[in-house]
Order: sequence, then structure tokens, then C-alpha cells
Amino acid sequence: MAASAARGAGLAMECAPSQDAFLVPMSTAAQTGNGALAFTPEVERATRGIYEQVRHVIPEVEWPVHAPLIAAINELKRERNAVILAHNYQTPEIFYGVADYRGDSLGLAQEGARTDADVIVMCGVRFMAETTKVLSPDKTVLLPDFEAGCSLAASITAADVRRLKAQHPGVPVVCYVNAYADVRAEADICCTSANAVKVVESLGADKVIFIPDGYLGRYVAGQTDVEIILWEGTCEVHERFTPQDIREFRQSRPGVHVIAHPECSPAVLREVDFVGSTSGMISHIEAEKPDEVVLITECSMSDNVAVKFPDVEFVRPCNLCPHMKRITLPNILRSLQTLTPAIEVAPEVVDGARRSLERMLAVGRASATA
Ligand code: 13P
Ligand code: SF4
Repeated sequence: MAASAARGAGLAMECAPSQDAFLVPMSTAAQTGNGALAFTPEVERATRGIYEQVRHVIPEVEWPVHAPLIAAINELKRERNAVILAHNYQTPEIFYGVADYRGDSLGLAQEGARTDADVIVMCGVRFMAETTKVLSPDKTVLLPDFEAGCSLAASITAADVRRLKAQHPGVPVVCYVNAYADVRAEADICCTSANAVKVVESLGADKVIFIPDGYLGRYVAGQTDVEIILWEGTCEVHERFTPQDIREFRQSRPGVHVIAHPECSPAVLREVDFVGSTSGMISHIEAEKPDEVVLITECSMSDNVAVKFPDVEFVRPCNLCPHMKRITLPNILRSLQTLTPAIEVAPEVVDGARRSLERMLAVGRASATA
């Protein structure tokens, strides 16, 4: 396959489709005269069970648009021996319609490392697809929109990390996985929001450099005696929440349980009842069973969690991640048809990036509710 596009640092590459990749037959998914997929009785039957699950978060009028794509993707997935991994921020029609595994960054990394599928479709963002490729170099790893980035990953380069190491000789580097493979290759170990404190403490050091999320770094610093040297990257979604937002939720919904992602600012985190990774939030709701919850994180997460807990009332604050939202059913289908865009990681960084990820996977999650 020929490389047709590369990201800034020239590490991950999009590959051109082979000609025969377009010739995959789809029996369930009948086409209308203009080439669009039709909502046939067969498609309705094949997707009825999925719709029953999501009916209170997807209006009935939208289903004829989603269902033919879902049926086609699920059929093609079997033909390709493909597996679809979806992050908790994906929309419900992707999350419940086509995903084989759903979870947070850590869960997706763990699943990507253990699957025996030939093709892995990452419904998430590019740093997640790079994680999967680094851990499964012999598999085809697809990211349906190559431009699905992340403001945290874009905030730091490998040269920045080398400079930090030169400024603080001998101090180990912990890299939040929301970074590209060349950056992680410079780090001693990766972490996610589900295990950041445990990872930092696993090093047995008095001081660590923590990149690239300054707010997560501050959150970790508040949970440990290890001194944290920060990099001031931010998540463009979580930094928009303010302490005032939380106070207004509490005023309008007395008794509401407020749960936030640690990518929010310290001022926001001081106002909330629980802080956790996206999967940590789900485990917490499962354990606490609050009547009413507000999730201070990306929009789709509330829809997805509401499907799992129909008895819990969800207040839905709406901050969308524009990168996560680049993944759609039509581009997942096209990606499976064409086997593009396929993620590649530059050979010179693969070993370093794998070492820092494997070291993190050996540490695992912080706890059952992380
Ligand atoms: P999690 O690791 O908690 O799933 O978060 C990933 C992410 O991108 C949050 O913005
Ligand atoms: Fe990156 Fe924030 Fe989007 Fe997560 S929500 S992928 S941290 S920009």
C-alpha cells in the first residue's frame, strides 16, 4: 500500500486503497436507485434488537437513516474478520450499533492488544489508533477519519520532551496516552486517566515530568507526594467547563450527583462529587446508583451511559469533542470497504512507544472504579 498522507510529525500514515478493496458484497444492505442504502424489512429485522436498546436516546425518525449503515457495517465486519473498538464519546448509533468493544482509553488499549481479528477499526481519535497499531503491528488498524486529532496530543512534540529531559536530567517522564507515538517513545511510561496516580507512584521516584495534560497533572499532584513537573497542554472540551456551571447545575437540580473527568480544571474538580476516567464514571454510577447525575465531560457519554442505566436521570451538559465527532457510520462503512485510512507508526519510534505502553499495561487500572 502506498502512503498518501502523513500527519505533522510524519509518523502516522494514511494508506491508499487497493482496487479490489471496493468489491466487497453486502447482502443485507440493499441499495436504492440513487445508491443510498435502503431501510428494507430485512434491515429493520436485523437491527430491531439494537434499536430496542437505544430507543430512548435515538428518535425513531432517525433509525431508517442509521439502520441500513449499521446492517452493512456489521455484515462487512464479519467478512473482513474485523473488530470495532469504540470510545465512550462515540455517538450511540456507533457505540451500540456496531462496536464490539466499548470503553475508555485504557480499556481500548487492552482490548486492541488481545484481539485476534485481522482488522481493527478504531472509533475514537488518532492517538488511540496509534496505541492499537503499536500494540498490534501486524494488524490493519483503521481510523475512519484520519483528521480525528486531539488538542492534548497536538500540544507537544518529541523535541519538546527531549528539551524537558535535558532541563531535568534523570527525572522520569510519564506520558498521558493522549499523545502521539513519537512523543510516547520519549517517555518512560504511559498512563491514562484511569491509572495516572498508580503509574506515577509505580516509578518509585521523588519527582516526575508529567505530559501533556496540565490539569490531569495537577489532579495527580493532589493525590500523591511525588513532585510533578507539568506541561501545560489542555483538552479543548473539558477546559470549557467552569465552577459556575457546576453551581448552576446544583442550583437548578438540588441533590444532583456531579461527576467530572480529571481533564477539567482544578477549580471545577473542587466542586464535584467524584472524579474519574470515562469508564470510572460508569463504574461509579453502577456502585452508587444516584437518582440524578450530571457528567462533566463530552456530550455523547451521557447518552451512552443513559442506555445502560435507564432508571438514572441524566442532565446533559453539552460540550462536543470535534475530533471524536469526525467518526460517523458512513465513514466507518467506507473505511471497512476500502481498508483506509490505515494507521502506520514510523519504525524508529515503534519500539520506544511499545515499551512505554507495555509498562503501563503491566500496572493496569488503579481500582475497580477507576
Ligand atoms: P478516558 O481515558 O477517560 O476514556 O479519556 C479519554 C479522553 O480523551 C478524554 O477526553
Ligand atoms: Fe482530546 Fe479532549 Fe477530545 Fe479527549 S475530549 S479526544 S482529550 S480533545
